[in-house]
Amino acid sequence: MRSWLFIPGDSERKLAKLADLQADAVILDLEDAVMPASKAVARERVRAVLDANSGPRAHELWVRINPLGSGMAMADLAGVVAGRPDGIMLPKFETAAELARIDAALAALEAREGLPEGQIGLVVVATETARSMFELGQLGQASARLRGVTWGAVDLAVELGAAQNRTPAGDWLPTYQLARSMTLLAASAAQVAAIDTVYTDFRDQEGLARYCAQARQDGFTGMLAIHPSQAPVINAAFTPGDEECEWARKVLALFEQAPDGAGALQLDGRMIDAPHIKQAQRILALQARAQE
Ligand code: COA
Ligand code: MG
Repeated sequence: MRSWLFIPGDSERKLAKLADLQADAVILDLEDAVMPASKAVARERVRAVLDANSGPRAHELWVRINPLGSGMAMADLAGVVAGRPDGIMLPKFETAAELARIDAALAALEAREGLPEGQIGLVVVATETARSMFELGQLGQASARLRGVTWGAVDLAVELGAAQNRTPAGDWLPTYQLARSMTLLAASAAQVAAIDTVYTDFRDQEGLARYCAQARQDGFTGMLAIHPSQAPVINAAFTPGDEECEWARKVLALFEQAPDGAGALQLDGRMIDAPHIKQAQRILALQARAQE
């Protein structure tokens, strides 16, 4: 999935827009976009949205719960699982053991609701605490329901006591570049989706398009969004273009037609071999997925 759009879980006005949104996945937020006094009402509203969309869904519906250390996470899970969310996003991740706990709690709730074990996915917001950075190699083993890894720069900066996370030109400072790269590596090691963080300047569509293009080149498969207008930009950026697909089809055709089963060939004067076959297959799979 390419675009993952947050909706504050207590906002009736924004929740009512659900049917119009172009995001591949919508994340109904119970965490930072909801003030402490509104947590309970948000849980009810999110559950109502899930219940109202129990049939085939236009977009996947995910719920961002409160962190495990908040004392609210288990009640969040207990409150929303009966609505059959496609997945749960876990923020402020700290340890792999914590992920295993969430996994076990979900399994028990799935049993309670008569759902197949493992049906509800998990995405981890992987870099919001300093400690998390040292656990990122363990994500895949901690939960078989892991579907993706994303990251956050704001909470990490607050935890570190940093005044900024970007340069004046808008580029990530080294610590946040590291967090972003670790996310990419952790997702790849666990063989799940790598989802880049939010682009907060939501009126700047050109800046977003540039950011997404780079994210896709770096290996991310999707990105978080905060505003409905960001979803189409993200979707376009993470869908392979015609030229790319043309290249991929050429690569595969060349290897199919190679008379002696050669492992290395040339395309327009450039060497292509096994990794290029994988890359070509990946591009065409992404394109096929985008057309679904
Ligand atoms: N989901 C659904 N609808 C949204 C939306 C969202 N994330 N963001 C904005 N909209 C709606 C608005 O309600 C508005 O419709 P309306 O005029 O009928 O009310 C329309 O889209 C245009 O919104 P706009 O006026 O441009 O922005 P805003 O000032 O209403 O909201 C934000 C700006 C940033 C507060 C809002 O986009 C938002 O709440 N984003 C999500 C925040 C979040 O969940 N953060 C946690 C993760 S980092
Ligand atoms: Mg946050």
